[in-house]
Amino acid sequence: MEIIIKKDYSEISSESAMIIANQIKAKPDSVLGLATGSTPLGLYKELIRLHLNGDIDFSNVTTFNLDEYVGLSNDHPQSYSAFMRDNLFSKINIKKENVHIPNGNHPNDKECERYESLIKSCGGIDLQILGIGSDGHIAFNEPSSSLGSRTRIKTLTQETVRDNARFFDNITDVPKFAVTMGVGTIMEAKKILLLASGNSKAKPIKNAIEGPISSMCSASAIQIHPKTVVMVDDDAAKELKEKDYYKWVYNNKKNLNL
Ligand code: F6R
Repeated sequence: MEIIIKKDYSEISSESAMIIANQIKAKPDSVLGLATGSTPLGLYKELIRLHLNGDIDFSNVTTFNLDEYVGLSNDHPQSYSAFMRDNLFSKINIKKENVHIPNGNHPNDKECERYESLIKSCGGIDLQILGIGSDGHIAFNEPSSSLGSRTRIKTLTQETVRDNARFFDNITDVPKFAVTMGVGTIMEAKKILLLASGNSKAKPIKNAIEGPISSMCSASAIQIHPKTVVMVDDDAAKELKEKDYYKWVYNNKKNLNL
Protein backbone atom coordinates (compact mmCIF):
# COMPACT_ATOMS: atom_id res chain seq x y z
CA MET A 1 0.00 0.00 0.00
CA GLU A 2 1.14 3.48 -0.78
CA ILE A 3 -0.26 5.92 1.76
CA ILE A 4 -0.25 9.57 0.75
CA ILE A 5 -1.20 12.15 3.36
CA LYS A 6 -2.17 15.54 1.99
CA LYS A 7 -3.04 18.80 3.71
CA ASP A 8 -6.71 18.97 2.81
CA TYR A 9 -9.56 17.94 0.53
CA SER A 10 -8.52 20.27 -2.26
CA GLU A 11 -5.04 18.68 -2.45
CA ILE A 12 -6.54 15.17 -2.46
CA SER A 13 -8.84 16.14 -5.31
CA SER A 14 -6.13 17.62 -7.52
CA GLU A 15 -3.57 14.87 -6.80
CA SER A 16 -6.06 12.08 -7.48
CA ALA A 17 -7.15 13.78 -10.71
CA MET A 18 -3.50 13.76 -11.82
CA ILE A 19 -3.32 10.00 -11.16
CA ILE A 20 -6.38 9.48 -13.38
CA ALA A 21 -5.07 11.85 -16.05
CA ASN A 22 -1.78 9.93 -16.15
CA GLN A 23 -3.64 6.63 -16.32
CA ILE A 24 -5.65 7.84 -19.35
CA LYS A 25 -2.55 9.32 -21.02
CA ALA A 26 -0.74 5.99 -20.63
CA LYS A 27 -3.80 3.98 -21.78
CA PRO A 28 -6.41 6.06 -23.62
CA ASP A 29 -8.90 3.17 -23.55
CA SER A 30 -8.61 2.74 -19.78
CA VAL A 31 -11.42 1.10 -17.84
CA LEU A 32 -12.15 3.14 -14.72
CA GLY A 33 -14.14 2.05 -11.69
CA LEU A 34 -16.00 5.02 -10.21
CA ALA A 35 -17.57 5.88 -6.86
CA THR A 36 -20.30 8.30 -5.86
CA GLY A 37 -20.80 10.20 -2.58
CA SER A 38 -19.25 13.43 -1.33
CA THR A 39 -15.62 12.33 -1.42
CA PRO A 40 -15.01 12.12 -5.20
CA LEU A 41 -16.89 15.35 -6.01
CA GLY A 42 -13.72 17.48 -5.91
CA LEU A 43 -11.91 14.91 -8.03
CA TYR A 44 -14.71 14.96 -10.63
CA LYS A 45 -14.64 18.80 -10.72
CA GLU A 46 -10.92 18.64 -11.33
CA LEU A 47 -11.29 16.01 -14.08
CA ILE A 48 -13.85 18.24 -15.81
CA ARG A 49 -11.45 21.19 -15.56
CA LEU A 50 -8.59 19.14 -17.03
CA HIS A 51 -10.86 17.92 -19.81
CA LEU A 52 -12.01 21.46 -20.69
CA ASN A 53 -8.34 22.47 -20.71
CA GLY A 54 -7.67 19.82 -23.32
CA ASP A 55 -5.59 17.70 -20.93
CA ILE A 56 -7.83 14.60 -20.76
CA ASP A 57 -9.69 12.89 -23.59
CA PHE A 58 -12.39 10.51 -22.33
CA SER A 59 -13.53 9.41 -25.81
CA ASN A 60 -12.07 5.91 -25.46
CA VAL A 61 -12.53 5.51 -21.71
CA THR A 62 -15.00 3.00 -20.26
CA THR A 63 -16.42 3.31 -16.74
CA PHE A 64 -18.10 1.01 -14.25
CA ASN A 65 -19.74 2.44 -11.17
CA LEU A 66 -19.49 0.59 -7.91
CA ASP A 67 -23.12 0.66 -6.89
CA GLU A 68 -26.67 1.89 -7.29
CA TYR A 69 -29.62 2.16 -4.95
CA VAL A 70 -32.42 -0.34 -5.44
CA GLY A 71 -35.76 1.12 -6.43
CA LEU A 72 -34.84 4.65 -7.56
CA SER A 73 -35.48 5.41 -11.23
CA ASN A 74 -32.40 6.50 -13.24
CA ASP A 75 -33.65 10.07 -13.32
CA HIS A 76 -34.38 10.25 -9.57
CA PRO A 77 -32.07 13.10 -8.42
CA GLN A 78 -30.52 10.88 -5.73
CA SER A 79 -29.93 7.87 -7.95
CA TYR A 80 -26.27 7.26 -8.62
CA SER A 81 -27.03 7.41 -12.37
CA ALA A 82 -28.22 11.01 -11.94
CA PHE A 83 -25.28 11.79 -9.65
CA MET A 84 -22.76 10.60 -12.24
CA ARG A 85 -24.54 12.33 -15.11
CA ASP A 86 -24.78 15.65 -13.26
CA ASN A 87 -21.34 15.65 -11.67
CA LEU A 88 -19.20 14.12 -14.41
CA PHE A 89 -20.56 12.41 -17.52
CA SER A 90 -22.56 15.34 -18.92
CA LYS A 91 -19.46 17.54 -18.73
CA ILE A 92 -16.85 15.33 -20.41
CA ASN A 93 -16.60 13.63 -23.79
CA ILE A 94 -17.29 10.08 -22.61
CA LYS A 95 -19.46 7.94 -24.90
CA LYS A 96 -22.83 6.99 -23.42
CA GLU A 97 -22.35 3.37 -24.43
CA ASN A 98 -19.09 3.23 -22.46
CA VAL A 99 -20.75 4.16 -19.16
CA HIS A 100 -21.96 1.32 -16.92
CA ILE A 101 -23.89 1.56 -13.66
CA PRO A 102 -25.48 -1.41 -11.87
CA ASN A 103 -29.19 -1.66 -12.60
CA GLY A 104 -31.06 -0.86 -9.39
CA ASN A 105 -34.43 -1.40 -11.03
CA HIS A 106 -33.98 -5.05 -11.99
CA PRO A 107 -31.65 -6.18 -9.25
CA ASN A 108 -31.74 -9.94 -9.75
CA ASP A 109 -28.92 -12.49 -9.83
CA LYS A 110 -28.88 -12.55 -13.64
CA GLU A 111 -28.44 -8.79 -13.78
CA CYS A 112 -25.59 -8.95 -11.24
CA GLU A 113 -23.88 -11.70 -13.24
CA ARG A 114 -24.30 -9.63 -16.42
CA TYR A 115 -22.50 -6.71 -14.73
CA GLU A 116 -19.61 -8.97 -13.68
CA SER A 117 -19.34 -10.43 -17.21
CA LEU A 118 -19.38 -6.97 -18.74
CA ILE A 119 -16.44 -5.89 -16.58
CA LYS A 120 -14.53 -9.00 -17.68
CA SER A 121 -15.39 -8.52 -21.36
CA CYS A 122 -13.95 -4.99 -21.20
CA GLY A 123 -10.66 -6.44 -19.95
CA GLY A 124 -11.21 -5.72 -16.24
CA ILE A 125 -10.90 -2.46 -14.34
CA ASP A 126 -7.56 -0.67 -14.74
CA LEU A 127 -8.04 1.83 -11.94
CA GLN A 128 -10.75 1.67 -9.29
CA ILE A 129 -11.66 4.80 -7.29
CA LEU A 130 -13.03 4.13 -3.80
CA GLY A 131 -14.43 6.16 -0.95
CA ILE A 132 -14.90 4.66 2.52
CA GLY A 133 -18.00 4.61 4.71
CA SER A 134 -17.94 5.49 8.40
CA ASP A 135 -18.43 1.77 9.10
CA GLY A 136 -15.42 0.92 6.91
CA HIS A 137 -17.37 -0.17 3.85
CA ILE A 138 -16.10 0.07 0.28
CA ALA A 139 -18.87 0.27 -2.32
CA PHE A 140 -21.80 -0.97 -0.21
CA ASN A 141 -19.98 -3.94 1.27
CA GLU A 142 -21.25 -3.46 4.78
CA PRO A 143 -19.73 -5.18 7.84
CA SER A 144 -19.86 -8.99 7.50
CA SER A 145 -19.66 -8.82 3.67
CA SER A 146 -17.56 -11.70 2.42
CA LEU A 147 -14.14 -10.55 1.27
CA GLY A 148 -14.69 -12.79 -1.77
CA SER A 149 -18.12 -11.35 -2.58
CA ARG A 150 -19.26 -10.46 -6.11
CA THR A 151 -21.87 -8.00 -7.43
CA ARG A 152 -25.12 -8.55 -5.54
CA ILE A 153 -27.87 -6.88 -3.54
CA LYS A 154 -26.91 -5.71 -0.05
CA THR A 155 -28.96 -4.32 2.81
CA LEU A 156 -27.47 -1.04 4.01
CA THR A 157 -26.67 -0.67 7.70
CA GLN A 158 -28.66 1.80 9.78
CA GLU A 159 -25.43 3.85 10.04
CA THR A 160 -25.11 4.09 6.24
CA VAL A 161 -28.79 5.00 5.90
CA ARG A 162 -28.22 7.77 8.50
CA ASP A 163 -25.02 8.94 6.74
CA ASN A 164 -26.78 9.14 3.37
CA ALA A 165 -29.92 10.82 4.72
CA ARG A 166 -28.22 14.20 4.12
CA PHE A 167 -28.95 13.79 0.41
CA PHE A 168 -32.68 13.11 0.88
CA ASP A 169 -35.60 15.20 2.19
CA ASN A 170 -36.39 12.59 4.79
CA ILE A 171 -34.47 9.65 6.29
CA THR A 172 -37.41 7.39 5.44
CA ASP A 173 -36.77 8.15 1.73
CA VAL A 174 -33.26 6.63 1.85
CA PRO A 175 -33.28 3.24 0.09
CA LYS A 176 -32.34 0.36 2.35
CA PHE A 177 -30.93 -1.81 -0.43
CA ALA A 178 -28.27 -1.33 -3.08
CA VAL A 179 -26.74 -3.36 -5.89
CA THR A 180 -23.03 -3.28 -5.28
CA MET A 181 -19.83 -4.71 -6.67
CA GLY A 182 -18.45 -7.21 -4.20
CA VAL A 183 -15.13 -7.00 -2.38
CA GLY A 184 -13.88 -9.80 -4.64
CA THR A 185 -14.91 -7.80 -7.72
CA ILE A 186 -13.08 -4.71 -6.45
CA MET A 187 -9.95 -6.67 -5.57
CA GLU A 188 -9.61 -7.72 -9.22
CA ALA A 189 -9.01 -4.12 -10.31
CA LYS A 190 -5.43 -3.71 -11.49
CA LYS A 191 -4.98 -0.57 -9.38
CA ILE A 192 -7.02 0.93 -6.54
CA LEU A 193 -7.12 4.54 -5.39
CA LEU A 194 -8.96 4.97 -2.08
CA LEU A 195 -9.78 8.53 -1.05
CA ALA A 196 -10.82 9.83 2.38
CA SER A 197 -11.16 13.27 3.85
CA GLY A 198 -12.23 14.69 7.20
CA ASN A 199 -12.46 13.67 10.85
CA SER A 200 -15.36 11.28 10.32
CA LYS A 201 -13.07 9.08 8.21
CA ALA A 202 -10.22 8.87 10.75
CA LYS A 203 -11.51 5.71 12.47
CA PRO A 204 -12.43 3.73 9.34
CA ILE A 205 -9.10 4.69 7.73
CA LYS A 206 -7.20 3.50 10.82
CA ASN A 207 -9.13 0.20 10.74
CA ALA A 208 -8.65 -0.24 6.99
CA ILE A 209 -4.90 0.41 6.96
CA GLU A 210 -3.66 -0.69 10.37
CA GLY A 211 -6.40 -2.97 11.65
CA PRO A 212 -6.80 -6.68 11.02
CA ILE A 213 -8.08 -7.81 7.62
CA SER A 214 -11.68 -8.48 8.43
CA SER A 215 -15.10 -8.59 6.86
CA MET A 216 -16.14 -6.22 9.65
CA CYS A 217 -14.26 -3.50 7.75
CA SER A 218 -14.44 -4.41 4.07
CA ALA A 219 -11.93 -1.66 3.21
CA SER A 220 -9.26 -3.65 5.11
CA ALA A 221 -9.18 -6.01 2.09
CA ILE A 222 -6.98 -3.42 0.34
CA GLN A 223 -4.13 -4.69 2.53
CA ILE A 224 -3.86 -7.73 0.27
CA HIS A 225 -4.23 -5.82 -3.00
CA PRO A 226 -0.85 -5.52 -4.78
CA LYS A 227 -1.32 -1.99 -6.11
CA THR A 228 -3.30 0.31 -3.86
CA VAL A 229 -2.81 4.00 -3.21
CA VAL A 230 -4.63 5.45 -0.20
CA MET A 231 -4.89 9.22 -0.42
CA VAL A 232 -6.10 10.92 2.76
CA ASP A 233 -5.97 14.38 4.27
CA ASP A 234 -4.49 15.21 7.69
CA ASP A 235 -7.88 14.91 9.39
CA ALA A 236 -8.61 11.46 8.00
CA ALA A 237 -5.03 10.38 8.81
CA LYS A 238 -5.03 11.60 12.40
CA GLU A 239 -5.55 8.19 14.05
CA LEU A 240 -2.87 6.40 12.03
CA LYS A 241 -0.16 5.09 14.35
CA GLU A 242 2.49 5.13 11.63
CA LYS A 243 1.44 8.47 10.16
CA ASP A 244 4.97 9.95 10.40
CA TYR A 245 6.46 6.91 8.70
CA TYR A 246 4.00 7.16 5.79
CA LYS A 247 4.94 10.82 5.33
CA TRP A 248 8.64 9.91 5.54
CA VAL A 249 8.23 7.22 2.86
CA TYR A 250 6.36 9.60 0.56
CA ASN A 251 8.89 12.44 0.94
CA ASN A 252 11.88 10.16 0.41
CA LYS A 253 10.32 8.63 -2.70
CA LYS A 254 9.56 12.09 -4.05
CA ASN A 255 13.21 13.09 -3.60
CA LEU A 256 14.29 10.00 -5.52
CA ASN A 257 11.75 10.79 -8.25
CA LEU A 258 10.24 7.29 -7.88
C1 F6R B 1 -20.49 5.17 -3.25
C2 F6R B 1 -19.78 4.20 -2.45
C3 F6R B 1 -19.64 4.36 -0.97
C4 F6R B 1 -19.04 5.71 -0.58
C5 F6R B 1 -18.93 5.81 0.94
C6 F6R B 1 -18.41 7.17 1.37
O1 F6R B 1 -20.47 4.81 -4.62
O2 F6R B 1 -19.33 3.24 -2.98
O3 F6R B 1 -18.83 3.34 -0.48
O4 F6R B 1 -17.78 5.84 -1.16
O5 F6R B 1 -20.19 5.58 1.51
O6 F6R B 1 -19.32 8.15 1.02
P1 F6R B 1 -18.95 9.69 1.15
O7 F6R B 1 -17.89 9.96 0.15
O8 F6R B 1 -20.23 10.41 0.82
O9 F6R B 1 -18.49 9.90 2.54
